[in-house]
Amino acid sequence: MSVVGARPQFIKLKPISDSLASRDLHHLIIHTGQHYDSSLSDDIFTGLGIPTPDVNLAVGSGPQAQQTGEILIRIEPVLQQMDPEWVLVYGDTNSTVAGTLAAVKTGLKTAHVEAGLRSRNRAMPEEINRVVTDHASDLLLAPTELAMTNLGKEGLSDRSFLVGDVMADLLLTSRDQVNPQAVTDSLGLSGDYVVSTVHRASNTDDLDQLKRLVIALARLDLPVVLVAHPRLTTAAKRGGIALAQGAIRVIEPLDHLSMMSLIASSKGLITDSGGLQKEAFLLGIPCTTLRTESEWPETLSGGMNVLAPNGENLQALVDRNVSTPTTHPYGIGRAAEDIVDLLIEQS
Ligand code: UD1
Repeated sequence: MSVVGARPQFIKLKPISDSLASRDLHHLIIHTGQHYDSSLSDDIFTGLGIPTPDVNLAVGSGPQAQQTGEILIRIEPVLQQMDPEWVLVYGDTNSTVAGTLAAVKTGLKTAHVEAGLRSRNRAMPEEINRVVTDHASDLLLAPTELAMTNLGKEGLSDRSFLVGDVMADLLLTSRDQVNPQAVTDSLGLSGDYVVSTVHRASNTDDLDQLKRLVIALARLDLPVVLVAHPRLTTAAKRGGIALAQGAIRVIEPLDHLSMMSLIASSKGLITDSGGLQKEAFLLGIPCTTLRTESEWPETLSGGMNVLAPNGENLQALVDRNVSTPTTHPYGIGRAAEDIVDLLIEQS
């Protein structure tokens, strides 16, 4: 059984779902309902061709304790009734930590996909979710060597396996479907542009910070396609901040392949997303990260990714030259296969 709830988890689910299906293994999908807008949920499932979830817990939005608590309450009877051999949880969201606690306390074997990431920033809700999930899970599926090292330092080596990164699996297998022109044509874009996303609590909940970032983006000398997460739109409205100003052009969230296509032909990505930093790295596109740290430090070495927490020096960062990475820290596209092998082995 996979427990997912937020957009990045649907992307991580895709290669696992395919791999389980190719082995004829029965796979149940539980959607917590943390993300419910069609652009963040149904459209992603449809675009990626993932089976419709077997159960949707429809928890929706709310303060973190309420959201996490609602998932715990609603998922327990589902776990008890369905009694799966393994429960898979993904990444670092409130759905991850709630799914893990409910599953392990129900006595179900639980495996964490994308284990061992650490930002060392305890103000990030995701960092707390990662630590709790790793320590509670039975099987830790690490995407990188560094994640393995992190798990080792916390005494978790005996439950940890290096499998590679499932998002890299998806990107490597769908690379030939990336079609920048279809997306740029549909958006009426010609010439150079950068892509941006902002959705982290630290950048959206603090309205002064949000204003600072919007101004920095608006001042760039080339079009900025701002792919707006609902959290950003809501925060901007609350703060009376106009997003569509200066260089910024606001668009709705895209399906995964369209987003990869848009980034692939851009001059750069400016983001606070974790997954997108890594996807830009894999696409060979320079990334500027609007945060004080990255949980994907492999992207930072060699300058493919640079941290600019307040959007400082943004123009110079957009204009910088980078050399395409020659290393493969995220694996060779076999993570999902290795994960399924491990689940079978450890059953
Ligand atoms: C969550 C994850 C984050 C991940 C992100 C991907 C946590 C703590 N955070 O953040 O790690 O990077 O998903 O998108 O779990 N909203 C809608 N419609 C939706 C979903 C959200 O309008 O379908 C708005 C609501 O105003 C909501 C806010 O976004 O209150 C925050 O949503 P939430 O799911 O709590 O967190 P994300 O910011 O999406």
